Amino acid sequence: DWTSESFVETTVAELKQQLGTDHVIMALSGGVDSTVAAVLLHHAIGERLHCFFVDHGLLRKGEYEQVLDSYKNMGLNIKGVNAKELFFSRLAGISEPEQKRKIIGSSFIDVFDEASKEIQKELPEGAEAKWLGQGTIYPDIIESISVKGPSATIKSHHNVGGLPDYMKLKVVEPLKTLFKDEVRRVGKTLEIDSTILGRHPFPGPGLAIRVLGDITEEKVRILQEADDIYIRNLKESGWYDKVWQAGTIFLPVQSVGVMGDERTYEHVVALRAVGSLDGMTADWIHLPYDLLAKISNEIINHVKGINRVVYDISSKPPATIEWE
Ligand code: XMP
Repeated sequence: DWTSESFVETTVAELKQQLGTDHVIMALSGGVDSTVAAVLLHHAIGERLHCFFVDHGLLRKGEYEQVLDSYKNMGLNIKGVNAKELFFSRLAGISEPEQKRKIIGSSFIDVFDEASKEIQKELPEGAEAKWLGQGTIYPDIIESISVKGPSATIKSHHNVGGLPDYMKLKVVEPLKTLFKDEVRRVGKTLEIDSTILGRHPFPGPGLAIRVLGDITEEKVRILQEADDIYIRNLKESGWYDKVWQAGTIFLPVQSVGVMGDERTYEHVVALRAVGSLDGMTADWIHLPYDLLAKISNEIINHVKGINRVVYDISSKPPATIEWE
């Protein structure tokens, strides 16, 4: 029978065997998967694991600081990399979802390349980082296989598929046989903080795929404010832990409203909350009307530029969790 304790024991032993005295480089996302994978690697190779966390400017409000903070005391050798400008400039004017993912994927690779060169320079004489650590889990593999099918292009998960050949890094993916709930159990066994383990999944391309249409810093900022109100209310009302994933989507339409005796013509955001086991299917959550009313009022009253909030009542299939 599968237990998280025996998984940790065997995996750490296997990683020690596989990696020997090699160094591993890893980009963390602040999410459950990459964190659990990193801690397993840390148990196996200690100081020879080198992590960094990229700020692409498309994270949630305050997330970059919070994530770096939460890694601080976990012994993970982590560096923050600010790459906002690079991502925003490359994404400017791009609306097509797959193109956004491709740009983000290749920009991640460029940032990664740069950061790993820095890391290589700091290694002891003669040492070389030969491995790339990744938090890939089983459903990621399934979804990207379906993406590559000839007829059904769903979404190209930017984080699956590895790096270009020239980087010559071998990939180590300690969680690739696990489902999300198993990853959380492993994380608990590793005594990872519950605020990290309880985090909702968040897509690698971040808010880029929640700003429908072209991306500007201003739209991202408005979305971050609205999303912050939404997520805070979910936490305060106890709904955050009952929901598998929630997020706010910035729609590419404007709508007419009134404010005092002025006509407004402003932005619309959609709120999404789903229940799921592994993200492959999902049901929309029946949040209480009172809670939705409170969130809607707060967003409309506090976030300048938004005059309408809608709630997404679609399940997957056919509607995917993300809108892009
Ligand atoms: P969908 O929208 O396909 O999402 O129903 C299923 C799960 O995958 C996440 N997702 C992504 N994660 N890169 C990621 O790392 C991506 O490009 C991507 N697209 C979707 C989504 O947030 C949900 O948890």
